[in-house]
Amino acid sequence: MGALTWPADARPEVERLLKTYPRRRAALLPLLHLAQRIWGHVTDDAVALCAETVECSPADARGTASFYSMYHTHAPGRPHIRVCTNVSCQIRGADELLRVCERALGIKAGQTTPDGKFSLEEAECLGACDRAPLLMVNDDYVGPVDQGQVEALLKK
Ligand code: FES
Repeated sequence: MGALTWPADARPEVERLLKTYPRRRAALLPLLHLAQRIWGHVTDDAVALCAETVECSPADARGTASFYSMYHTHAPGRPHIRVCTNVSCQIRGADELLRVCERALGIKAGQTTPDGKFSLEEAECLGACDRAPLLMVNDDYVGPVDQGQVEALLKK
């Protein structure tokens, strides 16, 4: 048993997720989401708990958590801004939008402002290419956006 356990009020959801799929391992992604909702990000202990719950290796669960950009292995600032720079967004100006964000916030992609308020991240396809160029602010899609809209958003 790892250092962390599921809080009592989360256990029914854990059981529901485990019963939803024919194989326990398939519940790993939603359990990582649940852990992130509970603890704000997926700590090493939370990843180990998810691995133990679905009976896979911690390395396997860690690999999964680090592969998907929606899982945060450290506490992001709020707002957490993710700028998609994958192909559909890139050809519609995403790289410049990322530069606009970096200049406005005074940080590089992958960093959090010194006061801990804003995190900026370059993201792979966020799954809404029809709205390119696209960014996410916390869990909300914002797009298509232009530079002026991004600057206004950051000022707000
Ligand atoms: S390429 Fe940006 S959302 Fe798909």
